[in-house]
Amino acid sequence: MTSTPPRTPAAEPSRPDKNDHRTLTDESWAVHGGNRPDDTTGAIRTPIVMANSYRLPEDPTALDDHDVDALVYTRESGANQLGLQDKLARSERGESAAVFATGMAAIHAAFFALLNPGDHVIVSNVVYMRTWELFASLLPTKLGVDVDFVDITDVEAVRAAVRPTTRLVHTEAIGNPDLRVADIRALADIAHAAGAVLTVDSTFTPPPLLRPLDHGADLVLHSLTKYFNGHGDAMGGAVIGADDLVHQIKAGPMHHVGGAISPFNAWLIMRGSITLPLRLRRQCETAQAVAEFLAEDPRVAHVAYPGLADDPHHALAAAQFGDLHGGVVSFALPGTHERRVRFVNDLRIITSAVSLGHDETLIAYEQYPPERAAAFAAPFQEHGLIRLAIGLESADDLIADLGAALTTACGSR
Ligand SMILES: Cc1ncc(COP(=O)(O)O)c(C=O)c1O
Repeated sequence: MTSTPPRTPAAEPSRPDKNDHRTLTDESWAVHGGNRPDDTTGAIRTPIVMANSYRLPEDPTALDDHDVDALVYTRESGANQLGLQDKLARSERGESAAVFATGMAAIHAAFFALLNPGDHVIVSNVVYMRTWELFASLLPTKLGVDVDFVDITDVEAVRAAVRPTTRLVHTEAIGNPDLRVADIRALADIAHAAGAVLTVDSTFTPPPLLRPLDHGADLVLHSLTKYFNGHGDAMGGAVIGADDLVHQIKAGPMHHVGGAISPFNAWLIMRGSITLPLRLRRQCETAQAVAEFLAEDPRVAHVAYPGLADDPHHALAAAQFGDLHGGVVSFALPGTHERRVRFVNDLRIITSAVSLGHDETLIAYEQYPPERAAAFAAPFQEHGLIRLAIGLESADDLIADLGAALTTACGSR
């Protein structure tokens, strides 16, 4: 007689648990991630802990100075920082995160920890102004680092720039301000073959839009001031990646140079980030509609937006980001500088201000130094660059505002 094998019960569908990111969708993790209810009061949200220091253990000499997350002193760790770090690390599918007072504090901390005198760095020639300046002057003069600015979309040029001393390749996933798109996987392969680290500033592409670590990046950098906070009222920055790299950043620059985020700002960013997936989808959809409107208007000389079918970066963007392509649109208006100033000042909903990822739409018409502008797509060199950072207003209102200001500045179409 043959025995019948025991029946295996049908697998239970995995049950979501708000404390376990592996069981949650992006939307649910955005709500619950990193939140720690308060044992003292029973408050269901982590309170703002405005304390410089924490009670020491009964035997203070037993403190482990290498535990970078121990609650001792707020420059190095704090209750609100820890919750935010936990949320961000899992959102990016990294092991650890370190949060700082601003995006630049985070970016500086990463490079300060990774680089030594004599090291060589390959940097995208289109990156946020202050990052560009960090690599153009501060790191070479203060740290003796050699820097090559390269068109990051030219993978062969990046490969050709590698030297035996190359330790770092740095790019923005979508470059600020001309919106070129970096091929993270190709850059990771080049960096790793050279024994270097790939850092990706993903400020324009927060999760779930992109997770650079999934594409081979070693560290992700964010200005939390932008989409994570999302309401234009707090500043912050983050570095996310493997435990050992993030530990190096905390035990190094975070401890010795400072740059700690205030508990209040960490709490604001935590609260703002609850709606990140909802806001981001809406902002990307509105950006697509606005980009299409501008691209069809004969008064506009050029529009850069990776969601446009004829954008040179569209295919790569679609492969890396899926159906959303970011909330920033850059465009060029032909004619005089005065005409562009008139256009910006005639807007009635859109505010003229730097920054992005806020609830309100912001527009920035800036003069770029020639050495930076030389790297931009050609129409921006000829006609200047206007950066539009889409907020949460309706696409109809934004398009009406832009159309009316175009008529004021350039005449009817
Ligand atoms: C791509 C990018 N990275 C970093 C930063 C710097 O962030 P923060 O202003 O929070 O220091 C900015 C600021 O605009 C940015 O656009």
